Amino acid sequence: MSDRESTLITGIGELVTNDADPGAFAAMTDAALVIADGKVAWTGPAARAPAADAMVDAAGRAVLPGFADSHAHLVFAGERSAEFAARMAGRPYRAGGILVTVEATRAASDAVLRANLRRLAAEMLRQGTTTFECKSGYGLTVPDEARALALAAEITSEVTYLGAHVVPPEFGADPAAYLDLVCGPMLDACAPSARWVDVFCEDGAFGADEAAAVLAAGRAAGLGARVHANQLGPGPGVRVAAEAGAASADHCTFLTDADVDALVSTPVVATLLPGAEFGTRQPFPDARRLLDAGATVALASDCNPGSSFTSSMPFCIALAVREMRMTTEEAVWSATAGGARALRRTDIGHLGVGARADLIMLDAPSHAYLAYRPGVPQVAAVWQAGRLVAGSP
Ligand code: NIG
Ligand code: FE
Repeated sequence: MSDRESTLITGIGELVTNDADPGAFAAMTDAALVIADGKVAWTGPAARAPAADAMVDAAGRAVLPGFADSHAHLVFAGERSAEFAARMAGRPYRAGGILVTVEATRAASDAVLRANLRRLAAEMLRQGTTTFECKSGYGLTVPDEARALALAAEITSEVTYLGAHVVPPEFGADPAAYLDLVCGPMLDACAPSARWVDVFCEDGAFGADEAAAVLAAGRAAGLGARVHANQLGPGPGVRVAAEAGAASADHCTFLTDADVDALVSTPVVATLLPGAEFGTRQPFPDARRLLDAGATVALASDCNPGSSFTSSMPFCIALAVREMRMTTEEAVWSATAGGARALRRTDIGHLGVGARADLIMLDAPSHAYLAYRPGVPQVAAVWQAGRLVAGSP
């Protein structure tokens, strides 16, 4: 199909559009959708569908917006399965494992890092992720961070500078000097490839003042803010995110009432990463508390070799429904429109007319099957900007 041809997908058992009210799940049954020029051109009842150049019969299956995975760390070398196995045998998660990956990443060639990154991105696409964010954070030198971001920028526009992941060992005695590097020469080298700046605000990583300094320097360089906040214990991360006008506070596992209030009263999206709680055997974040208070919640994979080595948004949806008491509708909204909000994108995460035609067809009649049949591959076909890029309908 050329980009100029239109395609009618009809016989859709459930079409998730998320378009009526931008804050809520929306779907219709017995529906059809027309793609033209890479965008959604029409949606409505199958019985009233207009003609198009090509036709696809969904035969009662569900069609959803592609997943928007707003938090992933995909530029790395090596793996840490032994650390995972030790955790499952009872050892606690410590952010120090990050340095194991830093060492392997620094030692890897560009070709190895590019191949790893592209393999994970392809894995995501097959599972229905049509937009993903990708952070640096395993280089922690000026050239290693800059090359991580340049590699990420080859395949996604949602690129995040995370030089402030942890203080690397060569700066162990002088964390202030590392902060100066992160906010100075490293930022200068990284900003041209990035859209976002992120900081791991946590005991053992960066404190409130340091995190605020990183975000302010990033903003001065034109980058939007995101924060790894309140992952391993209570702390200032959410407050720092709110004060910096961040797009998203990610993890949100340990929140005070004041943190919840900050997430409700500002546009900061609470991005929950249940793969990390699964992989570290921590308590899951309290999604119900956030949703019931009125916060905007996104779901993302946190794909990384330490805390959460999954690229699967369907897995995250299943965890969110079973372990975090999100409804199936809330979880799918958070994995699509919620992720789009966390990336401040209006062109993705929904299938309203004019949206980018990023969509997935399930081998199932409704979105609920993503949680109802956990662990079963159910993404039959994936379209990105109107092109069939994975599977076959
Ligand atoms: O989001 N929290 C910090 N960063 C990652 C973990 C990275 C790692 O363990 O390698 C996270 O969970
Ligand atoms: Fe992360």
